[in-house]
Amino acid sequence: MTRLLCLTALTIFPIILCLTTSAAVTASDTLDSGSNITDGATLVSAGGSFTLGFFSPTGVPTKRYLGIWFTASPEAICWVANRETFLSNTSGGVLVIGSTGSLRLLDGSGRTAWSSVDSTSSSAPPVVAQAQLLESGNLVVRDQSGRDVLWQSFDHPSNTLLAGMRFGKDPRTGAEWFLTSWRASNDPTPGGYRRVLDTRGGLLDSVSWKGSVKKYRTGPWNGLWFSGIPETASYKDMYSTQLVVRPDEIAYVFNTAAGAPFCRLVLNEVGMVQQLGWDPVSRVWNVFTQAPRDVCDNYAKCGAFGLCDVKSGSTLFCSCAVGFSPVNPSQWSMRETRGGCRRNVPLECGNGTTTDGFKMVRAVKLPDTDNATVDMGATLEQCRARCLANCSCVAYAAADIRGGGGGHGCVMWTDAIVDVRYVGKGQDIYLRLAKSELVEKKRNVVIIILPLVTACLLALMGMLLVWIWRKHKLRGKRRSMDDIQHKTIVRHLDETNTLGDENLDLPFFSFGDIVSATNNFAEENMLGEGGFGKVYKGILGEDRVVAIKRLSQGSGQGIDEFRNEVVLIAKLQHRNLVRLLGCCIHGDEKLLVYEYLPNKSLDSFIFDAARKNALDWPTRFRIIKGISRGVLYLHQDSRLTIVHRDLKTSNILLDADMNPKISDFGIARIFGGNQQEANTTRVVGTYGYMSPEYAMDGAFSVMSDTYSLGVILLEIVSGLKITSTHSTSFPSLLAYAWSLWNGGRAMDLVDSSLLESCSASEAMRCIHIGLLCVQDNPNSRPLMSTVVFMLENETTLLSIPKQPLCFSQWYLEAQATGENTNSSMNSTSVSVLEGR
Ligand SMILES: *[C@@H]1O[C@H](CO)[C@@H](O)[C@H](O)[C@H]1NC(C)=O
Ligand SMILES: *[C@@H]1O[C@H](CO)[C@@H](O)[C@H](O)[C@H]1NC(C)=O
Ligand SMILES: *[C@@H]1O[C@H](CO)[C@@H](O)[C@H](O)[C@H]1NC(C)=O
Ligand SMILES: *[C@@H]1O[C@H](CO)[C@@H](O)[C@H](O)[C@H]1NC(C)=O
Ligand SMILES: *[C@@H]1O[C@H](CO)[C@@H](O)[C@H](O)[C@H]1NC(C)=O
Repeated sequence: MTRLLCLTALTIFPIILCLTTSAAVTASDTLDSGSNITDGATLVSAGGSFTLGFFSPTGVPTKRYLGIWFTASPEAICWVANRETFLSNTSGGVLVIGSTGSLRLLDGSGRTAWSSVDSTSSSAPPVVAQAQLLESGNLVVRDQSGRDVLWQSFDHPSNTLLAGMRFGKDPRTGAEWFLTSWRASNDPTPGGYRRVLDTRGGLLDSVSWKGSVKKYRTGPWNGLWFSGIPETASYKDMYSTQLVVRPDEIAYVFNTAAGAPFCRLVLNEVGMVQQLGWDPVSRVWNVFTQAPRDVCDNYAKCGAFGLCDVKSGSTLFCSCAVGFSPVNPSQWSMRETRGGCRRNVPLECGNGTTTDGFKMVRAVKLPDTDNATVDMGATLEQCRARCLANCSCVAYAAADIRGGGGGHGCVMWTDAIVDVRYVGKGQDIYLRLAKSELVEKKRNVVIIILPLVTACLLALMGMLLVWIWRKHKLRGKRRSMDDIQHKTIVRHLDETNTLGDENLDLPFFSFGDIVSATNNFAEENMLGEGGFGKVYKGILGEDRVVAIKRLSQGSGQGIDEFRNEVVLIAKLQHRNLVRLLGCCIHGDEKLLVYEYLPNKSLDSFIFDAARKNALDWPTRFRIIKGISRGVLYLHQDSRLTIVHRDLKTSNILLDADMNPKISDFGIARIFGGNQQEANTTRVVGTYGYMSPEYAMDGAFSVMSDTYSLGVILLEIVSGLKITSTHSTSFPSLLAYAWSLWNGGRAMDLVDSSLLESCSASEAMRCIHIGLLCVQDNPNSRPLMSTVVFMLENETTLLSIPKQPLCFSQWYLEAQATGENTNSSMNSTSVSVLEGR
C-alpha cells in the first residue's frame, strides 16, 4: 500500500515529496521502551508479511482493536490483543511498553485495556525492553540484551495458528496453547468454541469443544498422523507436523516448507477449523482442509459401538458394529443414533483364553481415548492377551503404526468405544465379542433349518384354516374395522375441532381405498422414495390420480398429534405448494395423500441433457420466483411457521404448465419438529442442500431453508448439480459460482442451453441472490421476504456476498475415494496438513 502510494507519487511529484510521504507512513518492525504506537500507526515485519496496528471489524467502525494481520489481506487477522475490551473509535488508543517490559494498551484516558502481563505479577523488576514484529507474525518482547524472550504473541493464540506456533500444553505449569473462536465474524470477543490438544488417555488428540460439549476430535496421533485425518500425510512435503513431547512441553507445531503458499489455520465462529492458503495471484484464500468435514465428524454421532460411514449410501449414516444392535431401534430408524448400540450376546469373560475373541474392524478413526489405557511398549499380541485377561476391556488397537506389521504399542478401551467412523487409510481396531458371535454359523444353519421349515409349514396351514373359517363366519364384521377406526377419528375430530370456523373438509381416507388405489403398494406404482417413506401413484375411485406417501414407522407420534398436524397442514394452500388432500391411519401405518403432478420433479429436467431444453430462461425465472414465494408462504405467510428442512430440486414438482410446487413440506413438522429454531440430533436433509450449521450442529431455522434455496437457484441457472465437480476444477458448485462471480465472470456460470433465451441481468441477479443465500453465517443470509423482493424488483441494490468457505471443500472430501481425490484439484490447490 505504502509502496503503491509512493510509486504513484513519484510519477507526479518531486522525489522529496515521495520520501516524506513514505517516511510518515512507513513503519518499522520494532517498538522501543519510551516510544508508542497510536491508532493509525503500525509496525510492519521486516519482509512486509505482517502488520500490527489498530483495526475495526467489518461493519463496526466504532470499535477499535489492536491486532496483527496478514499485510496482503488485512481481513486475515491472526492475533488480537484486546479481545475482551474494545476501544471506542473516538477516545483513541496507544500501545506502550511498561517499565517491567510488559506491553500495555491504553485507552484515551490512560486506562489499561489490555496488558501482556497479569496485573497481579506487576512486582517484577524494571527492565528495558523492545518489542519486535517478526516476519513469522510473532510479536516478541525481549529484554535489553535481546536474548531473553519476556513475552510473545505466539504463546497466546487467538483463533489462528500460524506456521511455527505451538499448540498443546506445558505439563509443569499447566499453561496451555489453544485456540478460541471469535464470537462472530466481526466480533473478536472469545466465542463458544475452543480447540485444544487433549493429552488425556496417554495419546494426543486435537479436540474441538463448544462450551463443555465435545464437538469433534481428529482421533489420536498414531506416529504419522491424527488417526481420523490420514489425508494430511500426503501434504507432508509442504506442511509438516512436528510433535514435541518434553517434560515442559507437549505440543505440536506445524511448519511450512520454503515456497509453500502462506497458510493459516483458523477456528472460525461456527466451530470449524479451516486451513486457508493464500493465492497471491488471484488474491483469495483457498480452503485446503476443514474440520469437521461431514456428519460423521460429529462427536459420538452413532453412540457407543456405533460406526459412522458417510459413504453408506443412505441418509442413515450409522450402523452398529458386528455383534451389536441399536439400543432403541425406533429412535435409530428415525436417525436418532446417539443412543448407540448394545451387545447381542454378553461377553463370557471367562478365565480361559477360549471364551471371548476379537473381530477386526478395518479402516476407522480410533475411538475416544479418554478412558483408554496405553502401553507404548507392548506388542499387538501382548495387547490382545492383556485385553482378554481384563473383563472390562472391550477393544484394542495399535497405538503407533510406524514400522509396519500392524504397528506396535497398545491402546485398550474399557466399557465402550465411541466416536468411530470409517476413513480411507484408517486404522484397524479389534473388537471383543463373545465366542458364540465369532464362530461360523454354517453348521448351525442346517440344524436350525429343518425344524424351522416344518414349523413354518404348520403355521401356514394353521393360518390358512383360520382364514377360511373367518372368511365364512366373520365376513361383514372384519370388513368394517377400518370404517370403525375412521369414524372414531372423525367423531373425535368433530368434538375437538378447535379450529372451528372453517368447514373441515375431512381429509381422511380408508386404508382399504388406499390399498386398492395403489394395487396393494405395487412396485410398479412406486414414484420414489424419500427420507420419510415411499411414494406411490394411486387412483382413487374412478379416475382421481393421487400421490400417496407411506410414512416409515416409528415417528414416535400419537394418532391425535398426527391428526392435528394433518389438519393444520392440509389448510396450507398456495399455488406453489403441492396440495395435501388427506391422510389415512391404519394401525401403525400412517399415509398422506397428495395431488398428483404429472411432470415429475425439477431435477429431472435441469440435469438432463435432453429435457433441459424444455425449460428456457423465462420459464426458469418463473420457477425460481414461484419456489421463493412458496417458501415465503411456509416461513411467514401461513398461520404456521414451517421450516421445510429438505428443500432440493427433487422436491420441487412441476405441474402441466411447468409451475413449480414444493412437496414434502410439513413432514418435518408431522415428525414432531415444530419449533422455529431448534437443535436436533436427527439431521434429516440432503447433502449439498444442508446449511453448515444444520449439518454440523443440527441447528435449523428458516435460514437453513434460505441456504437450500440458494443452492437451488445456482443449480437452476447453471444446470450443474451441487455435488458435480467433474466439469470444473472447483470442489463444488458453490466455490465455482463464487469464484466466477468474484472475478466478474458470473455469466460463465449460466447453462449454455439458456444463453439464447436468457436475460443477462436476470440471470446475474439470480446468481447474486443465490450467493447471498449460501453464506456461511446464517445471520448474513437474506430473509425469504427479501429474496422474493429482490427477485421481483430489478432495481434493488444487493449487498456483496461473502465467500462461502465452509463447504467449499466438502464434497471433495466426502466423495474422495483414493485415486480420484486430486483429480479435481489443480496444481495451485496444493496443501495441507492438520491441525484440525
Ligand atoms: C506517545 O509518544 C508521543 C510522542 O513520542 C508522546 O508525546 C506521547 O506522550 C506518548 N503517549 C504515551 C501514552 O506514552
Ligand atoms: C467513529 O465512528 C463513527 C461511526 O462510523 C464515525 O461517524 C466517526 O467519525 C468515527 N470517529 C472517529 C474519530 O474516527
Ligand atoms: C474360572 O472361573 C470360575 C468361576 O468364575 C472357576 O470356578 C473356575 O475354576 C475358573 N477356571 C479356571 C481355569 O481358572
Ligand atoms: C469416561 O468415563 C467417564 C466416567 O465413567 C464417562 O462419563 C465418560 O463418558 C467416559 N468417556 C468415554 C469417551 O467413554
Ligand atoms: C482392567 O482395566 C481397567 C481399566 O483399564 C483397570 O482399571 C483395571 O485395573 C484392569 N484390571 C486388571 C485386573 O488388570
